[in-house]
This record gives sequence, structure tokens and C-alpha cells, in this order.
Amino acid sequence: MSATPPPSANAARQRVHWDAVLDADNVGRERVTARGLLREAQFTRLPENRALWRAVAECDDPLVVDLGGGLGAIAVALVLSTSARVVVADVSGERLRALRSALTELGARHPDLPHRIHPVQTSAESLALRSGAADILWTKSVLIHTELEASMAEITRCLGSEGRAVLCEPTDANPLVRLHRRFLAPKEWREITRYFSPEREQTVLEALGDPETERHHVIGFLAFVWQFALRSVWLLRLSLLVLEPIDRLMMRVWPAWRRRAWFVVMKGRGR
Ligand SMILES: C[S@@+](CC[C@H](N)C(=O)[O-])C[C@H]1O[C@@H](n2cnc3c(N)ncnc32)[C@H](O)[C@@H]1O
Repeated sequence: MSATPPPSANAARQRVHWDAVLDADNVGRERVTARGLLREAQFTRLPENRALWRAVAECDDPLVVDLGGGLGAIAVALVLSTSARVVVADVSGERLRALRSALTELGARHPDLPHRIHPVQTSAESLALRSGAADILWTKSVLIHTELEASMAEITRCLGSEGRAVLCEPTDANPLVRLHRRFLAPKEWREITRYFSPEREQTVLEALGDPETERHHVIGFLAFVWQFALRSVWLLRLSLLVLEPIDRLMMRVWPAWRRRAWFVVMKGRGR
């Protein structure tokens, strides 16, 4: 790791916002507890996250950078189920403090967690990580908050030519998601997010070597009522079991369905 450079104006603004959002749902101030973090980790075994688990399975004991990993739910799920070590790199010092304290508490029952998860406060636009340090760099709903060109230059630098990017970001194309954002989501999301358009996707893919994409959830979005409204990991998984094959089939037979996907996963190598 190298010394932390000063944050850009965007990163500073994001830090102010996210320092005050400490719950697992990304909407409130209530600080996540150790138990809450373990529960949240169960909600991360989702179709759009599978590419991360696949990338980890293809490397020996990889160092994964979870950029914008925040409260660490994905890092916890990954460490509990694979041999990966995870750097949770995030602009919010408060979120990382909440993660550190949860890890200390969880260490009594899961001694691996505090040793294999390393919180680092830094910004995507100016990553305090050595060039080529990451075997895998993962983002989930993070590049929507960052300056894209600067972040991609940093991501590809930290990966080097052998490293792999798995970047999972929400698009602006799903009509159900648009309705949700318009009427139900917190208003301030409009100021701090830029959801992915085809142009932004192109910017990411042009920065990566051997780029590929996969897409997830058109009507599958409805299953997430069991994550974001009524909490039940089993009903979420059950709903996805029904809705995901419908989305897969529709995407195969009708290209317009693909373009309505909620998440795009952009994969490729560093340079
Ligand atoms: C929507 S949350 C997603 C958290 C996590 N990836 C997940 O899927 O639960 C966005 C995260 O990105 C972080 N973030 C926002 N802007 C950032 C930046 N410029 N550099 C690094 N992290 C940033 C926030 O602090 C927050 O933890």
C-alpha cells in the first residue's frame, strides 16, 4: 500500500454522504452490528455476484480488492466461503470503522475474518494501492458514485496485466428500477449517483483487456422486495429461483430484454 493521496472533490463529497450511512441497507444511520453484518453476508449470494466467486475459484489464494466495499458484507461472505484475502478499499472512514469493530467482535467465532479482511481508506479516483497489487478487483454499485475515467485508470493500474476486473454496476435501463428510484428511493441518491448508460459501459470496457459483459435481472428485480423491504434470505433465493430463468430465457430470445437489465457485470483484464 502507498501513502493516501488527497481525495478529489467528488470523493470528498461522497465521503461526507457515506460517513453518515452506516446501516446494512445503505439508507440509514444506525450502525451495523456484528450479527447484522453476518446476516447481510447471507444476502450477497446473488446471481450478479457469482462472477466474483467464479473469478476467485480460478486463482490460488487471490488478493481481492473490494473497491467501495463499505461495511464489508461481500468481503465477509467471500472469506467465509473461499481462501481469498480481501482489501476493503472505501472512501468512508466511518464505514470502515464500523467494519473493523464488527470484525473484532466476529473474530471470537470466526478467527479468519480479522486476519483476511483489511480495511483501507482511499478513493477510487486515486487508489492508495501498489500497481499490480490486486489479483481481482471487484465493485458493486460503486462506479456509479465515482469519476469514471479516473477510477478506471486506477483500477487497471492496480490490476496489472494478470489481474482481473469484475465490475458489477446498476444501469439506468430497467423500468421497474426507475419507478423505484422515482417514488421510493431516498432523494439524495439522485445527487450522488450516475447509473450506467451504454456510453458509461463503453468507457469501462475500453479500459479493460479482453472485455466481456453479463446482465442480470429484468423482472428479477421484484425478488429484491425480500432484501430491501421485507427481509427474508430464503424468500429472496426462492423468488430468484423462479424469476431468474424467466429473465435468462427472455434475454436469449429477445435482445431488447437484455437492454433492460438492472445490473451489468463488466469483466476483463488490467493493462
Ligand atoms: C452503494 S454503496 C455499495 C457498498 C457495497 N459495494 C455493497 O454492494 O454493499 C457505495 C460504496 O462506495 C463507497 N464510495 C463512494 N464513492 C467512492 C469513491 N470515490 N471511492 C471509493 N469508495 C467510494 C461508499 O463509501 C460506499 O461504501
